[in-house]
Amino acid sequence: MVANDKTVNGANTNELSENLARTTLRDSEAAAAAPKTAAPSASASLPIRNTAVKGLFEDEQAAYKGCRLSKRAQDNPVQEIGEKLDLIIRNSYDKDTNPDGLINLGIAENTLLTQEYLDYFKGAIKHLQPYDLTYGTQSSGSRRLNEAIAKMWNENFSPIEPVKPDDIVTGPGASSVLDQLIAALLDPGQGVLLAGPHYNGFDVNMVARSGAKIRPAPIPLEDVFTPREVDIHLEKELQTAKEEGVEIRAVMLCSPHNPYGRTYDKETLLAYASFCERHDLHLISDEIYALSVFDNPNLPDAPPFISMLSLDFEKETGKPFDKSRLHIVYSFSKDFGINGFRLGAVISPHNRFMLRCMMASVFLMKVSSPADCLVSALLNDDEAFKRLIGENQRRLADSAAFMRRWFEERGMKPMQSNAGHFMMVDVRERLNIKSFEDEKDIAIKCVPCGVLVVSTAAKWVERGDVDLGEGVGTDTGVRIEVVPGSEGVAEWSGPLSLIDCSES
Ligand SMILES: Cc1ncc(COP(=O)(O)O)c(C=O)c1O
Repeated sequence: MVANDKTVNGANTNELSENLARTTLRDSEAAAAAPKTAAPSASASLPIRNTAVKGLFEDEQAAYKGCRLSKRAQDNPVQEIGEKLDLIIRNSYDKDTNPDGLINLGIAENTLLTQEYLDYFKGAIKHLQPYDLTYGTQSSGSRRLNEAIAKMWNENFSPIEPVKPDDIVTGPGASSVLDQLIAALLDPGQGVLLAGPHYNGFDVNMVARSGAKIRPAPIPLEDVFTPREVDIHLEKELQTAKEEGVEIRAVMLCSPHNPYGRTYDKETLLAYASFCERHDLHLISDEIYALSVFDNPNLPDAPPFISMLSLDFEKETGKPFDKSRLHIVYSFSKDFGINGFRLGAVISPHNRFMLRCMMASVFLMKVSSPADCLVSALLNDDEAFKRLIGENQRRLADSAAFMRRWFEERGMKPMQSNAGHFMMVDVRERLNIKSFEDEKDIAIKCVPCGVLVVSTAAKWVERGDVDLGEGVGTDTGVRIEVVPGSEGVAEWSGPLSLIDCSES
């Protein structure tokens, strides 16, 4: 991604920011003018919609007369992304507290088991220990948490060598551990290579503080999830980056993949490992959707999830592989539907030195002990763990089937998926999209209509190096969240639907 890239969450331009800001302003002014009708007892348990942010960053910066801030803070290449995310979250639709808010089809928040988890965790809070009220038993999460994560990994993902508690560093979510991991692996200005389209949060997680650059390689649909993804397209982007003076130091693999919602087969995973070995690169495998894999009758041969730690590269390929380059990123946000707990982990069993380097800053991302306690209790409760994960996978399968039907009935083509909480949908024909610009416009137009979608096209438009018929452009798609989306789309009674937006 170029340093001054304005892309985030797909559909992002100043126009989108302005649309979002306007929506937020409108609501904040309406809220200020509205008589206070809700009884304090009723509103006390409802989420607070804080719509205090007004105006755009540039206006704020131009008007600023205070004590000078750092250049780093003022010139952050992902400033706009962070602000946009904040605006979106502040103004998200809620049936009771913010009925005029945005129906957000752009963030993977799994609400399929919200009640079940609330019930479970209310009971599990009794496991809190006196040490949970202190700085605890180690600098990152607790010893209890590291042991529970090691157990979960060993029992579910067949690592070739058992994961040990000391192979793990925890932090508040995958976003946070990625921020720290990238800082440990790369110097400012160095690059991370990844297949595009990619999860848009990587633009922030890997860039905002580390000063690293991300370099997405556009992958034509026919090569996605094949070794060609790596051997042809990552290879090409590696060379391009080199020619542009960006030294690539790591590859990011998202497995199962966001946004395609698919699992990778063994051959392609081995190609990733060989590529990293060949070019002496770190290999980060984001396995955050490891347990969100489900049956899709249209994909009978979809591979199961295969953790990178379960592959014996040297035996499989007959070539050497330095395992110190492999780092797994995991989080409880997605598989357990608990984004708000903020709990993630780096698992790096073969690089003790890197984990040691992280000790310098690990206290800055210490996990809060209530989240640590509740998740540890669940991981140690085999019956509840299996029941909730199994139920989640069943509901994901139903939800994805519902969404596929919903789109097909309206003349749009969902891509087949077997993992994650989202799907790509080819909306070109139905919405009369002829170019990347058209797709970006649709996403922008949806905002004042009350719907946020993520257009995968936007970032390729910004790069200016992909046109329709080439690269990712062979199948323009809008990324739709399956889980919250299925509820939102079904319930939305507002003036415009996704389809109406294009026609207005
Ligand atoms: C692939 C991927 N990695 C990381 C994250 C960030 O997750 P967390 O809530 O743990 O920060 C997300 C969230 O959507 C994601 O989809």
